[in-house]
Amino acid sequence: MNFKIAVVAGDGIGPEVMEENIKVLNAVGEKYGHSFEYNYVLGGGCAIDKYGEPLPQETIDVCKASDSVLLGAVGGWQWDTLPGDKRPERALLGLRGALGLYANLRPATLHQALAGACPLKPELVADGVDIMVVRELTGGMYFGEKGRKQTDMGEAAYDVEIYSEKEVERIARRGFEIAMQRGKHLTNVDKQNVLESSRLWRSVVNKVAEDYPEVTLDHLYVDNASMQLIMRPTTFDVIVTSNIFGDILSDEASQMTGSIGMLPSASLGDGSLGMYEPVHGSAPDIAGKDIANPIATILSGAMMLKYSFGLDKEAKDIEDAVTKVLNEGYRTADIYSEGMKKVGTKEMGRLIIERL
Ligand code: IPM
Ligand code: MG
Repeated sequence: MNFKIAVVAGDGIGPEVMEENIKVLNAVGEKYGHSFEYNYVLGGGCAIDKYGEPLPQETIDVCKASDSVLLGAVGGWQWDTLPGDKRPERALLGLRGALGLYANLRPATLHQALAGACPLKPELVADGVDIMVVRELTGGMYFGEKGRKQTDMGEAAYDVEIYSEKEVERIARRGFEIAMQRGKHLTNVDKQNVLESSRLWRSVVNKVAEDYPEVTLDHLYVDNASMQLIMRPTTFDVIVTSNIFGDILSDEASQMTGSIGMLPSASLGDGSLGMYEPVHGSAPDIAGKDIANPIATILSGAMMLKYSFGLDKEAKDIEDAVTKVLNEGYRTADIYSEGMKKVGTKEMGRLIIERL
């Protein structure tokens, strides 16, 4: 089969981890007889430098016309003082919105080989951590009305947290569907003791639950959820939550995997077009040094094969190759511990390809 992929490598370590991802995808393509056509487009800080805006229309057009989008990372200190709507992060939010990618899947899996890199006590993670965070991605306060106004307490600023029934229903449904394919346990996270938007959210989740009698549903307030996650991480299966709560909880969950450098993500809408990116940022401090961990990006490539192209076997091949390399003791700096073999970005990519 032949697939058209838009590549937004972005800033910082984005391009170097993307390079390894593409080498891995090409190797899998060769093995199984698929060809991938890559269209490189600019988004984030590099687009600001070239076009004066983080998300040029051309980038949106190319992404829309592709079978899927691969994203590296965006942002950096050079662009930190720009106004909100001109920042590199706008590229991410803009693409998610323009492509209708409302469901963000962030799996946090602890590889047994990395148990030592997990900051939690060994007995807390002995049963294995395997959590799927399903984060709503195009609503809530990241997309709600924002602004500033004068008050008698000085200037005030606001970001409105707003969710409609339809928005909640489609993400809840996605959460239940994914739970059906996994351990049939869904945890809804909200703040319904305080927020009106959460009260609507929870009532819709409960309504959707009627269509999934096999799934065990429980509800947690977000503050409690953040605590339970580190107290009993192995008891979670799928978590469904809003944009901002998912942003925060997925970073927390990432730490159970040893490093945020291990966490891939998929952003999906109603069709097969998806955007795949590591959960980590652009890490400008280590960019260009060949020390960044490419695994999160490579695993994002595997998610693309699975969720956008339906190539489950090929995706599993990549995941297995990553597991093998870890089992053999190869580590990038972020997951390194004594006695292991420290390797750079490129070498990690090469080792994974060698084991495909
Ligand atoms: C993420 C990031 C982004 C988000 C930022 C960079 C806009 O933190 O993907 O989690 O908040 O969604
Ligand atoms: Mg985040």
